[in-house]
Amino acid sequence: LDIDWDTTRAGKGNYPFYMEKEIMEQPEAIKATLAPRYVDGRISLEADGVPDDVLKNCERVCVVACGTAMHAGLVAQSLIRSILRMHMDVEYASEFMYMDPVIDDKTLVLAISQSGETIDTLEALKYARSQGAKSIAVINVKGSSIARESDYVMYTYAGPEIAVASTKAYTTQMAALFALIGRMAVVRGAFNEEQEKAFVDALMQAPDAIQQVLDRKEEMHHIARGLLEAKDAFMLGRGLDYAILLEGALKLKEVSYIHTEAYASGELKHGTIALITEKTPVVALVTQERVRDKELSNIREVQSRGASVVVLVKDGIDLADADYTHVFTLPAMDDVAMAFPASAALQLLAYYVSMDRGLDVDKPRNLAKVVTVE
Ligand code: G6P
Repeated sequence: LDIDWDTTRAGKGNYPFYMEKEIMEQPEAIKATLAPRYVDGRISLEADGVPDDVLKNCERVCVVACGTAMHAGLVAQSLIRSILRMHMDVEYASEFMYMDPVIDDKTLVLAISQSGETIDTLEALKYARSQGAKSIAVINVKGSSIARESDYVMYTYAGPEIAVASTKAYTTQMAALFALIGRMAVVRGAFNEEQEKAFVDALMQAPDAIQQVLDRKEEMHHIARGLLEAKDAFMLGRGLDYAILLEGALKLKEVSYIHTEAYASGELKHGTIALITEKTPVVALVTQERVRDKELSNIREVQSRGASVVVLVKDGIDLADADYTHVFTLPAMDDVAMAFPASAALQLLAYYVSMDRGLDVDKPRNLAKVVTVE
């Protein structure tokens, strides 16, 4: 399980930027992250040393994390609520201490961090443990401070991530969290055999689904050209799609400097729609069948205000006959796993906008890869 890597040896290969290389590495990184947790067709956390009792006895789950890692927690929240029907909070680690968190010995804390060194996440974890919580850290860098502080660690096997904007660390965090949730659902009796199999099958298809998106990167490059002149952009979705878009919007903001807001589509009419004009491109994500009708009606609302709309849609969802600026079809998977191909598509979009704007993709201004100040 122990993979040692040397960041100084990680080159860009044939790619102009690390970000592209790291986006392209995701299928392999996810496979590496799932492999030790996939045993005889089932999910097992034995290699991680996470005891089933910890997963079974907790009454609520709380994520503490920052930035992209926190967004991986939001995707997990959507699953934990729908599959496990459990109470789950996702907190910005930097806000955690000041929000009087309700933490006790029945709480399972998940500290998610690529570097394992983010000071806010480390402090939040320490505080949660002082209140009696058990903890699992989801970490990319072996032996890092957060890994050492946590009761249990699930490593992601993304390998070194050099670009400041996180890509493969995020999707491997999701992969590890999906494995955790899958095992929790088994030990807590939320899955019967058939449901477990469907979940595991969907998860194991994630690398292939991402690869299918990456194989069409030039299609996304073409779409990205429509955003080059934008000062502001919006991303709209509901439910799990909204959680995915929070990360998609962060990615676009970080590397392209376009002010981008991910908005829960239904919330748009409560003020923000006033900001939609022909100058604010909209990216809509439609991967969840149950919200399709409402989402399409929200898309029509922004179109009628002149916005150009790029729709990222799960293959098979009928978009009706409306005239969208671009449609990018995502490979169809079980709804819960659509976060994987959708995230890859959004990463490519951000990457190409940044590159075509002539920016320093790997080192956006004012950002650091690891933040060790509070
Ligand atoms: C910084 C990075 C982000 C990252 C966040 C949390 O802001 O620029 O990409 O998501 O820190 O980092 P961590 O190492 O804890 O995942």
